[in-house]
Amino acid sequence: SLNEIVIRVNLNLDRNYYTSINETKFYNKEYIFINKYTYMNSKYVPNNLEKLDLSYSRPGMMLVNIAKINLEKMIKDAKKENINIRVMSSYRSYDYQVKLYTNYIKKDGKALADTYSARPGFSEHQTGLSIDIDDQKELYTNFHKTEAYKWMINNSYKYGFILRYPKNKENITGYTYESWHYRYVGKKIAKYIKKHNITFDEYYAMYLY
Ligand code: DAL
Ligand code: ZN
Repeated sequence: SLNEIVIRVNLNLDRNYYTSINETKFYNKEYIFINKYTYMNSKYVPNNLEKLDLSYSRPGMMLVNIAKINLEKMIKDAKKENINIRVMSSYRSYDYQVKLYTNYIKKDGKALADTYSARPGFSEHQTGLSIDIDDQKELYTNFHKTEAYKWMINNSYKYGFILRYPKNKENITGYTYESWHYRYVGKKIAKYIKKHNITFDEYYAMYLY
């Protein structure tokens, strides 16, 4: 359809990944959009980063204040239903992403690494608005098999979080399915994305581009 074509063109999906790249204009906005065509400056460190509490996260985790506040509400409400969400990864600096991506290339080669890891400057984790979570029992890569996953799918939007790399949307997001990676976009956008079953990429192409 015409709408699909507009989305594909606005997202640059007619170009190969990491070609015709642009720097984001949305620094320090909860709707900052990062994909394989849109990056952050290597010097970018978001404002208002705060440490996460050890009761629900691994040591050394940080998020932007507004994301942290909503995350804590979400975790508290999940706990009332015996769901234990734990944060395994959150804000990652540009330099940390360099180390991660370099290690993935050594392990799997560049072509495979690119299917699951962002290149430095292109990782949503540098926004301070993204989290990788588990249920404190299963490996995070098995998150899709857990009750916590179901709870997140049904409820995360109420707290402004969305599943960023859904199944069967790989050709739009540019990444393999990640059942564990959530992104804070604010409640209004999260609700829209949930209601219309679209990706943040499509939302960007329609409303933020
Ligand atoms: N795994 C996600 C795509 C990242 O590296 O940011
Ligand atoms: Zn992630």
